[in-house]
Amino acid sequence: MNSYKLDLEKYAALARQAVAEGCVLLENEGQALPLRDGERVAVFGRMAFHYYKSGLGSGGLVNTRYVVGILDALKACEGVHLDEKLMGIYEDWIMENPYDEGQGWGRVPWCQKEMGVTEEMLDCARRDDVSLVVIGRTAGEDQDNNAKAGSYCLTEMEEDMIRRVCEVSERTVVVLNVGNIIDMSWVEKYHPQAVLYAWQGGQEGGNGVADVLTGKVCACGKLTDTIAADIKDYPSTENFGDPFKNYYKEDIYVGYRYFETFAKDKVLYPFGYGLSYTTFETRAEILKNTGDEITVSVTVSNTGEVRGKEVVQVYVKVPQGKLGNPARKLIGFAKTKELAPGEQEEVCIVIQKYDMASYDDSGVTGHKSCYVLEEGCYEVFVGSDVRSAVSVGCYEEEFRVIEELEEAYAPVEKFQRMKAVLLPDGTYQAVTEEVPVRTVDPQERRANEMPETLDYTGDKGYKLVDVLDKKVSMEEFIAQISEEDLIAIFRGEGMCSPKVTAGTAAAFGGVTDGLTALGIPVGCCSDGPSGIRMDCGTKAFSLPNGTSFGCTFNVELVGALYEMTGKELRLNKIDSLLGPGMNIHRNPLNGRNFEYISEDPILTGRICAAQVKAMAKSGIGSTIKHFCGNNQEVGRSTSDSVISERALREIYLKGFEIAVKEGGARSVMTTYGSVNGLWTAGSYDLCTTILRKEWGFDGIVMTDWWAKSNYEGHQAEALVKAPMVAAQNDIYMVVSDAKANPENDDVEEMLHAGKITLGELQRNAANILGFLLKSPSVLLLTDRICKEELEAMNTKEEDDVDAGSLVSIESDSVTQKIVIDGALLHPAKGKADVIAVTNEFMGDFTMKFTLKSDLSELAQLPVSVFLDNIHKMTVSVQGTNGKWVEESRILNMGFGHNHYIKFYYGADNLEIKEIVLTPNR
Ligand code: BGC
Repeated sequence: MNSYKLDLEKYAALARQAVAEGCVLLENEGQALPLRDGERVAVFGRMAFHYYKSGLGSGGLVNTRYVVGILDALKACEGVHLDEKLMGIYEDWIMENPYDEGQGWGRVPWCQKEMGVTEEMLDCARRDDVSLVVIGRTAGEDQDNNAKAGSYCLTEMEEDMIRRVCEVSERTVVVLNVGNIIDMSWVEKYHPQAVLYAWQGGQEGGNGVADVLTGKVCACGKLTDTIAADIKDYPSTENFGDPFKNYYKEDIYVGYRYFETFAKDKVLYPFGYGLSYTTFETRAEILKNTGDEITVSVTVSNTGEVRGKEVVQVYVKVPQGKLGNPARKLIGFAKTKELAPGEQEEVCIVIQKYDMASYDDSGVTGHKSCYVLEEGCYEVFVGSDVRSAVSVGCYEEEFRVIEELEEAYAPVEKFQRMKAVLLPDGTYQAVTEEVPVRTVDPQERRANEMPETLDYTGDKGYKLVDVLDKKVSMEEFIAQISEEDLIAIFRGEGMCSPKVTAGTAAAFGGVTDGLTALGIPVGCCSDGPSGIRMDCGTKAFSLPNGTSFGCTFNVELVGALYEMTGKELRLNKIDSLLGPGMNIHRNPLNGRNFEYISEDPILTGRICAAQVKAMAKSGIGSTIKHFCGNNQEVGRSTSDSVISERALREIYLKGFEIAVKEGGARSVMTTYGSVNGLWTAGSYDLCTTILRKEWGFDGIVMTDWWAKSNYEGHQAEALVKAPMVAAQNDIYMVVSDAKANPENDDVEEMLHAGKITLGELQRNAANILGFLLKSPSVLLLTDRICKEELEAMNTKEEDDVDAGSLVSIESDSVTQKIVIDGALLHPAKGKADVIAVTNEFMGDFTMKFTLKSDLSELAQLPVSVFLDNIHKMTVSVQGTNGKWVEESRILNMGFGHNHYIKFYYGADNLEIKEIVLTPNR
């Protein structure tokens, strides 16, 4: 076998293990789990028959080869006897009550109608050993959860099912196939013996869950979020979901930082919590304490009966000082190997004091814009969740400045933020204080830091590869690029550009003839993060969701899995995955929480750094996103998140910082929205001061797809793109033709008006080219990929897109036009129509679609066109708000008079009135 081929078995095994290690067992009374060999299991809940492999939107659109659901996996387990009668009852009901696909992007139901439980079904529960109840939920891009029944809360039907099954079953196990945490108040009411968060595990999901249910893998996942009694208990809830402005009044008190400080009694399950099938004893001490770091040694012994892994979590309680601080901060974690009963392992965790430091954004410590350690006692806690972690020692620290920085991206308007005050009885009071506002104008800063402009030399014959081979400097190379091409390279092309791998999100770099003439390759990026999204239907591996990865607390395992993803990307000739997603779970209602990792930035950062590093082994520069503050989907391109500089640095930027500094991330995606009055893509402080100057990032920054930017004090607009150039947001994604400037952006105009400089465009171009020089595309362009790997890259799987019924159409004898009436087409996600055409004329045709969708412009509706089963193009349409529009493309039918044209639809909610093919004579 060609050793460059993807080892799909290994890939699946790693994904399966990750799913299993991500499952979090919240209840397990009387050792209800694991299932014993030979037990009879009654499976309840229609979602057992339709597994959610991922959440909704761009992060979930992977065309998989297969998906193993929980029930499929249990059917394959020898020692599990599923109640056939109950399965039959569900199957019959589902035939009459089919799965509701919803109406496409942003309009998919969060849950499915549940079947009412009958006495006959309960009889199955009575006679079987165990009842398994599966509950499913989804949400995603452009579709936040809501705090109502059927989304964050259970429906009456679901509650009724759990209640009645619990009443009659010996043991009830509830499995949650959900993107992120949901309301858990029902556990106390109905007392199921076991509750397992199984998340959304990608194509191997069911297998991983079954491994935990059967005890093949000892439960070892830990919560990455605090589960509070009520959604209203989360301090962010009251300032979440406004489409225009959200004040982050809770400041740094996000998740457990809030609950452990102010509201312990509101917590049902603390951050880091998760049960095991075995028991562990942990002994820990602070082994070393130097100026910059401490080393904590933890010895974990398996004191139970079965093999298992344990997660060791290290927290610190820092002095309240002048700044005020949360009662606990996660500063390190590790997962043991699988320990046999009686076996022990010592893990040493080295913690940088930088990770304990607080950022002074007001100057109250006398050191404004610095990370500081305030004077006093630093107490270290070790345990397997934030609440039960025990003190393992403390030490005194003098006041110290750990890092001096510059004020950056601070709020421009005042608001009251939360602050902790320690009371004499040792408890904390939440008070408020006025947030410090900006004192440094980012435009002045930019003016002082303007890059030099290189004199244009014209084409000197240097190719980009000459920079790689150190024959010329990057400056010499860049000096050859014309103004027109420097502007064009700012524009990425997509979606589904024919210049790169079919069905992917964007092409960038060599997007004009002038740029390709200089030997600049066309880079390719694809969504992400749950696997490779190729809208033309090409199959890829579907990965577990971000929350599930977080819950593993296992950076080695996540890294090993992403090494496979890196190889898969490379084999598909893709330079960057648009992921990992790493926004903070600020509130449980954020629809995209499934893509993201945790409410904690250190855990988020470390898991993502592992992913980034692993993909880099294949030369892939993964794109960490969304930078920053993309914490809700409602109004994601209109809303301004007002966040203190301290909360930005300690919470919302910290994960990104780790992914850049520790993971070596080379690509970043800014958001659709605004932070502190500036749309992120046009923020100099974000994209230059913090990211590049402070963190040493030297890669590319790209916008989110069709994002806008603004001039300070004004609203964002589609044509306002010069601020992106100035900010060092190197690439605007995406346009159909980079040279033609189809969106009529203001870059050239602002360049000629002196508002941005050629030097800035050259600097940004250097970022893009520097990225490409480290990417597979430059090797492909210059034939530097060995024969075996190239062979593996060019081997394609058989196309297995479903085809509908066949209709034949002949071209008009006079006009030679081919008219495909929309009535013949059935656009629906995952469906295809094949039309047989007979054409007299041979050559290029203009293929004009008349179509509409009542979704908004951000909805992505890909239609892939295949000629004789060969993918020709993917027409990526955006929502049209219900208006009929026309989209034209060129289709070449150069030889032969009989063809089959196939249209494959990647999304729902698209209507096609007609498609007319007119010969281009
Ligand atoms: C999403 C991004 C995604 C991009 C390309 C946007 O709608 O927010 O996360 O990578 O589309 O599909």
